[in-house]
Amino acid sequence: ALKHSYSTKAQKHNQRSYNYVQPQASYKVAVLGAAGGIGQPLALLIKMSPLVSALNLYDIANVKGVAADLSHCNTPSEVADFTGASELANCLKGVNVVVIPAGVPRKPGMTRDDLFNINANIVRTLVEAVADNCPDAFIHIISNPVNSTVPIAAEVLKQKGVYDPKKLFGVTSLDVVRANTFVAQKKNTKLIDVDVPVVGGHAGITILPLLSKTKPAVAFTDEEVQELTVRIQNAGTEVVEAKAGAGSATLSMAYAAARFVESSLRALDGDSDVYECSYVQSDLTELPFFASRIKIGRNGVEAVISSELEGLTEYEQKALEALKPELKASIEKGFAFVQKQP
Ligand code: NAI
Repeated sequence: ALKHSYSTKAQKHNQRSYNYVQPQASYKVAVLGAAGGIGQPLALLIKMSPLVSALNLYDIANVKGVAADLSHCNTPSEVADFTGASELANCLKGVNVVVIPAGVPRKPGMTRDDLFNINANIVRTLVEAVADNCPDAFIHIISNPVNSTVPIAAEVLKQKGVYDPKKLFGVTSLDVVRANTFVAQKKNTKLIDVDVPVVGGHAGITILPLLSKTKPAVAFTDEEVQELTVRIQNAGTEVVEAKAGAGSATLSMAYAAARFVESSLRALDGDSDVYECSYVQSDLTELPFFASRIKIGRNGVEAVISSELEGLTEYEQKALEALKPELKASIEKGFAFVQKQP
């Protein structure tokens, strides 16, 4: 049965775990794109995890300094740097979790899909290397457009004959983090307790917060639902505009991605009570990929939680139907990209 609040658990765990410097487990994590705006603070947060023994940082440039800097933190994991394609295989050997924030971010006026041409190639190349060097690893895709880059990763892994749908995750935890924050602000509730599931995908209207399923239960007026839903959907653009050309969300993204890494490591370590929202292969809807709450275990996705899609409000039901054509098109664009260029 579903327990009260999964993200609360993840949040509390993270708060606790960052105070420890004693190793509690010995997992290897690789970050691909580690010198970037997300990669650097994400690497820092992973460096603070007591569950990590080796932190491998890969980028095409500037990663040596990041690794040297981080390596002076007196936490258990050993940091190693890998620069350029010739060092990618070594970076990935024996790794349990691979996190991919490599690629270009949005500038004002851009949609996530505008990044497709550049990032599709980057994700394809990196996932090919993952398939060759650590096919059993959990793969966390952050690079946008996530709605397409995850299907691209799946196709690449299929071509390599190593696709395990339970181990491929599109990182949508930032949408949940934002939803929790905005709802707590609006309703003046204790932030650590708020848990809003966010389903669909990770772009514009495909981001669907299920406010009626907020835990603990909160009542919203129709105006509040409309306002919060739109704010959560456009939160990334809020940051892009505030940064005015200097990129998109990096610090909140690193926080959200670190939480997803920590949850994955706890699951690998045998914790049987790990739930997160993520964009995964799914049979919840007629679409092959869909973000929803999932249960994560040692072997990856253990269950896709269907109950949260039941008993939706009319507003949510309409929004769900409305997002499907866009999400479907993004998935097909990802598939077509790999199939066109074998
Ligand atoms: P950034 O430009 O600051 O960093 C990207 C890094 O990737 C750079 O260090 C660059 O050298 C590296 N890189 C480029 N090509 C590479 C390759 N072939 N192999 C390895 N590394 C490579 O960008 P930022 O802000 O860190 O964003 C990264 C990605 O994350 C973007 O695609 C952005 O849209 C996405 N993003 C996703 C979010 C989500 O919720 N899933 C939220 C925010 C951003």
